[in-house]
Amino acid sequence: MDVTAIAHPNIALVKYWGKADIDRNLPAVGSISITLDTLVTTTRVRFGTGADCDELFLDGHAASEERTARVRFCLDLFRRLRPELPSAVVESTNSFPTAAGLASSASGFAALVTAVNGALESPLEEDQLAEIARRCSGSSPRSLYGGFVELALAGETTSVRPILDRPEWPLEVVIAVTSKVAKKVGSTDGMELTRKTSPFYDSWVSGSPTDLAAARNAIAARDFEALAAVGEASCLRMHAVAMAARPGLMYWNGTTIECLHRVRELREQGTPVFFTIDAGPQLKAVCAPDAPDRVAAALAEIPGVVEIIRCGLGDGARVVRA
Ligand code: PMV
Repeated sequence: MDVTAIAHPNIALVKYWGKADIDRNLPAVGSISITLDTLVTTTRVRFGTGADCDELFLDGHAASEERTARVRFCLDLFRRLRPELPSAVVESTNSFPTAAGLASSASGFAALVTAVNGALESPLEEDQLAEIARRCSGSSPRSLYGGFVELALAGETTSVRPILDRPEWPLEVVIAVTSKVAKKVGSTDGMELTRKTSPFYDSWVSGSPTDLAAARNAIAARDFEALAAVGEASCLRMHAVAMAARPGLMYWNGTTIECLHRVRELREQGTPVFFTIDAGPQLKAVCAPDAPDRVAAALAEIPGVVEIIRCGLGDGARVVRA
């Protein structure tokens, strides 16, 4: 059994930040994202190689204990449903920097669960697969689907569904990479610190359904201005609640802020663009289809921007070789 799958990162327009239950990795809030193209995680899973335990190679090197443990945890979730699954050798490569706020865990686990499922004699249902992905990384089930995707809270679990196909509203994203260094505080630690110490946490959680509804409506109506308003608000509120933790979390650098101001200037001057930023210093400029050339040129000029990556909307995770 030797299966290769690919998946793309997704970026949330309405952010997930905070866990209702750390043991089950249950998010405290729903989220809405877009799946990107261009950036890709490719994951090959081989079973029956005779390996004693699951092994992980990331970008050609034996991975750290911590990353290997997360992959073993994922495979063990499959084994609860398919106990016959032998040890696996997992080889994963990212076409972009890992753990630097470009959603490598989302594409990583989406590719992994898709490859493992492709190797099963009787594959799991989509919802079971999404549940396993979510247990490993809260944002990764969104990368199972293309276009616009919503992850909704559903009692003791979550459900994830595409809400608009990418050709229906072909937005583009310009990523201003401002640092390629892996972030110091990962999202799980950051979320737990925020939940335990930020005085604004409850208001962040209770405000989320309003943002989700606004984004859903904006997407259904293809209303770029409305999506820009809720997208920037959700991003800034996520960072505000995290900054108010003790000690405060600061995922941005100076260049991130320069980029943020530039995006707002461009919008004031009539360019349809808004920003979003995840748990890292990269700024993602979401553009209406006619704007990305102008936006990419403007962001490339900012000192400290080390790379510009352009993406369209992408497809969901899929098996590419079996
Ligand atoms: O899936 P995780 O645990 O890496 O968390 C992702 C959190 C953010 O990227 C900051 C927001 C989101 O909704 O993707």
